[in-house]
Amino acid sequence: MQNLVLVKLGGSVVTFKDKPLTANTEAIDRISKSLKMLDAPVIIVHGGGSFGHYWSVQYDMHTKASRYDAHGVSIVHESMIALNQVIVNSMMRSGLNPYGLQPSVFTSGQRPITAKIRQLLSMAGSRVTPVTFGDVVYVDRAKYSILSGDSLMTILAKVLRPSRVIFATNVDGIYSDLESKSLIPRLGVAGSRSVKVSMNSVADVTGGMKRKITEAFKIASLGMDVMVVNGLHPERIVAAATGRPTVGSMVMKRRRP
Ligand code: IPE
Repeated sequence: MQNLVLVKLGGSVVTFKDKPLTANTEAIDRISKSLKMLDAPVIIVHGGGSFGHYWSVQYDMHTKASRYDAHGVSIVHESMIALNQVIVNSMMRSGLNPYGLQPSVFTSGQRPITAKIRQLLSMAGSRVTPVTFGDVVYVDRAKYSILSGDSLMTILAKVLRPSRVIFATNVDGIYSDLESKSLIPRLGVAGSRSVKVSMNSVADVTGGMKRKITEAFKIASLGMDVMVVNGLHPERIVAAATGRPTVGSMVMKRRRP
């Protein structure tokens, strides 16, 4: 399928990061309405924001595989299912056909299950929209780890090679300078070192904006352009998904020599 759109809805867009367990329902509803305008097959990944991150911090759980507190594992997972439900229900109200699924359906620990990932593409092609999310996942020998939605973007992009890869965050894109907020409209893979990112995300166990940029560069290295846009302006997601110019940053794909 040529025109797959892969979108990550950051936790800073779908939740209020400073209000524990509070979804930004207004932002979610506006995004759902915007996604309804798209004709192309879409796969959605969402982050944890004040749901998954909130509990991961409380229980000291990280991306590193470890024997975390069993109640922590349970409650982080449950909170992500709850947030997924809010998003899925909003999308249904907008007339979309979302299908929520936890990442352990198509990954084993941090590794992809390729055949399962291909099924997501086939679902998206039949007008069902898979909606997956960052989660706590079982690794092995009673160890678990936090698998971020950003890592899932790379896992999915590698197998499915979408036409459009979009990270929706709560800022306009990638800034060269945080003080002046000067937006970099286009940058190449080689530009990663010139990017300064804020590391002040308080309740974030997966690395905040830095992780997003790292994954965006990984995907661009695999030969796909990646757009970083502000999801609180959902028309920018639609523009990016249809290849129209919009406010945001494009990490340009590495061209093969
Ligand atoms: C985090 O996913 C998932 C959990 C903490 C369980 P992300 O790392 O993708 O979340 P955001 O987008 O940064 O909030």
